[in-house]
Amino acid sequence: MTHIVFAPIFKFEWQLKYLSNLINKIVVASHNEGKVREINTHLKKQHIKTISLKKFNINEPRETGLTFKENSILKSRNTSIKTNLPAIADDSGLCVPVIDNAPGIYSARWAGKRKDFSLAINKIEKKMRAVCDMRKKNRIAFFVCVLSLYFPDGTYKVFEGKVYGHLQFPPRGSNGFGYDPIFVPNGFVKTFGEMKYGFKERISHRAVAFQKLNRYLRKIWINY
Ligand code: IMP
Repeated sequence: MTHIVFAPIFKFEWQLKYLSNLINKIVVASHNEGKVREINTHLKKQHIKTISLKKFNINEPRETGLTFKENSILKSRNTSIKTNLPAIADDSGLCVPVIDNAPGIYSARWAGKRKDFSLAINKIEKKMRAVCDMRKKNRIAFFVCVLSLYFPDGTYKVFEGKVYGHLQFPPRGSNGFGYDPIFVPNGFVKTFGEMKYGFKERISHRAVAFQKLNRYLRKIWINY
């Protein structure tokens, strides 16, 4: 992967840190504050500097893809082409099997133009109640995150992460964003919305996708 001109040569942490100063910054292709914050946290751990999309006059493209992967690539490609820099995008959403994995790729759209997630949460609950009793086994849900890293030469890599759990109504907790107040990950009793900032970021679908991305980065750094 010779296009990664910033690839450090050594695998030790301090050397990575030093060499990361040579790293071209990556543009985070999102206007979603919650997501940008999480993406920055993850990339910071790899000593990768990011640039906010706000620095450029770029709108996110319409999400015309039919999968998380297609939409993720649409976003990172659009930003990379327009900035001539590597760009990272995340397409993510909540899938609820009992209602055919909805809202899925439409997770943001269910909240409407005003991004009112109480609206989207009510819609999910209503649709679920229409097709099932609300026993825990019927409230199974999972979050998906597909990260794409797109380079100005047209090459890209994709990393997917999932986290399983169940939905909780009424919503609980005011941390996080989007559907966090209704999602209880397996093995926990708190919703993502009740977890302290930093904790969710270690176990979320985004964390899983970032672990894969980081493994990939380390591999190219070490093999460079
Ligand atoms: P998009 O990837 O920009 O299409 O938006 C995905 C939508 O899924 C977000 O606006 C949130 O509503 C939801 N979503 C994705 N990840 C999370 C998360 O970690 N917590 C809560 N909601 C999320």
